[in-house]
Amino acid sequence: MAEDLNLHQGSKKEQYEHLIPQIAGLLEGETDLTANLANVCAALHEQFRWLWVGFYLVKGEELVLAPFQGPVACTRIRKGRGVCGTAWQEQTTLIVPDVEQFPGHISCSSRSRSEIVVPIIRHGEVLGVLDVDSESLATFDETDRSCLEQIVNMISFSHHHARSKGL
Ligand code: SME
Repeated sequence: MAEDLNLHQGSKKEQYEHLIPQIAGLLEGETDLTANLANVCAALHEQFRWLWVGFYLVKGEELVLAPFQGPVACTRIRKGRGVCGTAWQEQTTLIVPDVEQFPGHISCSSRSRSEIVVPIIRHGEVLGVLDVDSESLATFDETDRSCLEQIVNMISFSHHHARSKGL
């Protein structure tokens, strides 16, 4: 049974430190990937109030829009395209301080100024990406990288764990 999120004021690092155990609690005991992605992006959005927080999942040669919070977004992104498709292809987190400076950036919202994309990787395979957009320039840094990577690892672990149990 979910409870209200306990929101925290403080440095970004403190906010993550307060949020991550709550996200672990949300994932615990739930094996459905869509449900878990939905709650994780809602928790991140509620705590940080970023413009857009959401997931794209790999389906064949494309990323397809999955649970998110924020304005409507483009539904399909090909491998190697935009920030999301590049993070997928390179299997690495990308921090973009100014989206206008990223060649091939896909503008889903004209309000987005900076972005971070974190691939969800399990056993060398990209399952999808977590994409976060901000209305301010240079919002994301190494704290976001390490904390968001920790969060997507928790998701990929619970997903893998569920699949290995045939759920
Ligand atoms: N800007 C992303 C596309 C997704 S939206 O920001 C939600 C990109 O360049 O891949």
